[in-house]
Amino acid sequence: MSETYTASITAPVNIATLKYWGKRDTNLNLPTNSSISVTLDQSDLKTTTSAMTCSSFTKDRLWLNGEEDLQLSESKRLTQVLANLRLKRKEKEAKDASLTKISDWFIHIVSINNFPTAAGLASSAAGFAALVACVAKLLQLDDDMTELSKIARQGSGSACRSLFGGFVAWEMGEHSDGTDSKAVEVAPLEHWPQMKACILVACADKKDVSSTSGMQLTVKTSDLFQKRITEVVPERFEQMKKSILDKDFELFAELTMKDSNSFHATCLDSYPPIFYMNDTSKKVVRLVHKINAFYGKTIVAYTFDAGPNAVLYYLEENEDKLMTFIYAMFKNLNGWENKYNGDELNKFIKNFEE
Ligand code: ADP
Ligand code: DP6
Ligand code: CO
Repeated sequence: MSETYTASITAPVNIATLKYWGKRDTNLNLPTNSSISVTLDQSDLKTTTSAMTCSSFTKDRLWLNGEEDLQLSESKRLTQVLANLRLKRKEKEAKDASLTKISDWFIHIVSINNFPTAAGLASSAAGFAALVACVAKLLQLDDDMTELSKIARQGSGSACRSLFGGFVAWEMGEHSDGTDSKAVEVAPLEHWPQMKACILVACADKKDVSSTSGMQLTVKTSDLFQKRITEVVPERFEQMKKSILDKDFELFAELTMKDSNSFHATCLDSYPPIFYMNDTSKKVVRLVHKINAFYGKTIVAYTFDAGPNAVLYYLEENEDKLMTFIYAMFKNLNGWENKYNGDELNKFIKNFEE
């Protein structure tokens, strides 16, 4: 029997608070702006990926959620990612003659997402982060996460950020060869452990327009997009990093909501327009602003990726305050209603629905 090597890994989803939307180089997947995200806890949304390599395999193959994905197996993004990882293994083998030359063998990959795929919940991020980390483990590479993030980026841009936990930035870089377009840690999760995320699934269906093609249309057709990348995002990037380091929730929340709105505005300004948010998403936006107004303080922020599903960021100390209203609005009271004055709550819901 032929010799085999195997490896398994999980990678969590990350949800951007300052969105990546636009490529300046589609081949190397270099972005038009830097972005920031929060990586969710591994116990929530995650991808589990296993890989095996064997001298008798005749081609690279990939199974996604139980089915072989021929489109992805033959895609440029997968071929490029695997070629980069194999090159690193080859360099190791060249330095150490005792190593088996597995860089020439084909690889079989099996991956499962425990959440909806291609529905705007960052499946490509967790998916390609898991794939790169798993194959790097399989090939016994010694590269650090920032180095691997440059490879993950070529699978899916947002994936580079999922290689780190906590608060992460993807620095767009300046070089045309992409060597400085990488993910870096802004702060570990322990820096601000009170930060929580809640996901409201408005629709789990596969989106009509993938992130890859959506952003390409925006770059090509939206005038607003030019303003976003030159005038809005560079300053916001610095402000958001500072808000995280200062643990300034109100500022972090305001920047996060504004950036989600700015990104979706460029989608609407694309031609033909792209609609990722639906009526339920808009209801969540209105609800969040009303909740913040009700408390006279920003206690919760929404953000939407390229899909209708909302991610709410809030501090743990405000969980009861927030959930009371979320459950009340969506008619699933679950005991939360007892925590607040019933009249006040009913008045709020009545006003909101009018
Ligand atoms: P999302 O909002 O879920 O990230 P995208 O349009 O960015 O949606 O990307 C979806 C694509 O990402 C899928 O069609 C698939 O090609 C790829 N993908 C999703 N999950 C995985 C995975 N676990 N491993 C590899 N690729 C994946
Ligand atoms: C709205 O990383 O999925 O989620 O690089 O083409 O694979 P590709 O796109 P992808 O785009 C993510 C867009 C976003 C914002 C973000 O995650 O920063
Ligand atoms: Co994606």
